[in-house]
Amino acid sequence: MIRSVVRGIGSALPRRIMKNTDFEGVLETSDEWIAQRTGIRQRHIASDDETTASLGEAAARAALDNAGLTPADIDLIVLATSTPNNTFPATAVEIQNRLGMHHGFAFDMQAVCSGFVYAVATADLYIRGGLARRVLVIGSETFSRILDWTDRSTCVLFGDGAGALILEAQEGEGTIADRGVLAASLRSDGVHKDKLYVDGGPSTTGTVGLLRMEGREVFKHAVGMITDVIEATFSQAGITAEDLDWFVPHQANKRIIDASARKLGIADEKVVVTVNLHGNTSAASVPLALAVAVADGRVKKGDLVLLEAMGGGFTWGAVLLRW
Ligand code: UT7
Repeated sequence: MIRSVVRGIGSALPRRIMKNTDFEGVLETSDEWIAQRTGIRQRHIASDDETTASLGEAAARAALDNAGLTPADIDLIVLATSTPNNTFPATAVEIQNRLGMHHGFAFDMQAVCSGFVYAVATADLYIRGGLARRVLVIGSETFSRILDWTDRSTCVLFGDGAGALILEAQEGEGTIADRGVLAASLRSDGVHKDKLYVDGGPSTTGTVGLLRMEGREVFKHAVGMITDVIEATFSQAGITAEDLDWFVPHQANKRIIDASARKLGIADEKVVVTVNLHGNTSAASVPLALAVAVADGRVKKGDLVLLEAMGGGFTWGAVLLRW
């Protein structure tokens, strides 16, 4: 059977780093509060010349270099983002143009923080369905542009960045020993739409709007939703937490990550954590974390890796793949 196998990975971060201490004196907050409640120490913030498209392009070029491929080798670009350069055209198409790619097709996916997990699952279906052989899956965000910088309960949590993965059609045996995407489980429930949202849009206010979140409410649901969808993915693949080599969760809050890993019985040393460095970068958080763990030699060819995310909507999901 056809499997969607990882050929390359890349990432890009804005030049400017903002530390927790940079908020002190501006807002009623502290490095201690932010670090203790979230695990975040710093985040990257896009300058005027850095956009979702430019960061996405940089991550895509890094992934192409890593794979030893060129844009000519790609059939499809799926960009996960909730902060597109424009309402339309899709920022994926802008990235396609920036890469000098005038063949194939490109589109955006919008599932907020779960966007990258949705995009990997979608790319896998396009590959297995025969519509594309090589897919560039990108998560790129500039959440700094939709933050209320006077709201200490949200603005300290998010950051900007991008990560990209190249998936390629390869023959597999149809067993769990295959490389590539092995199982995926996606969920959403709009009953929670008012707990994490942006208060503007083209069809309502005609403005871009700013991020609003009932943090405690999101927190309350997060661990249960994450562990449910992961258990569904495990049973689809016929594995247990012990079989995993790496758990690469959405990087929103270290306490959510720790509680989810504990509930699932995943050992601490298998959990990739980058929320301290990047904050919550929404759809970019999983590929950014994955890129760090690949670059430092933790994630190696043949490792069994679990990706997971949860965010606005609510949306949530998990993907199991062998690197
Ligand atoms: O990407 C997926 C979506 N996002 C998430 O997963 C985020 C989920 N939620 C969270 O991570 C946590 O709920 C937060 C980090 C947002 C907040 O942590 P918490 O432990 O749930 O705190 P809280 O909301 O219960 O607030 C505790 C106190 C409040 O003061 P009072 O009402 O107890 O007097 C807040 O006003 O902390 C206050 N507070 C702050 N204090 C200092 C809120 N933000 C700050 C701040 N600095 N930045």
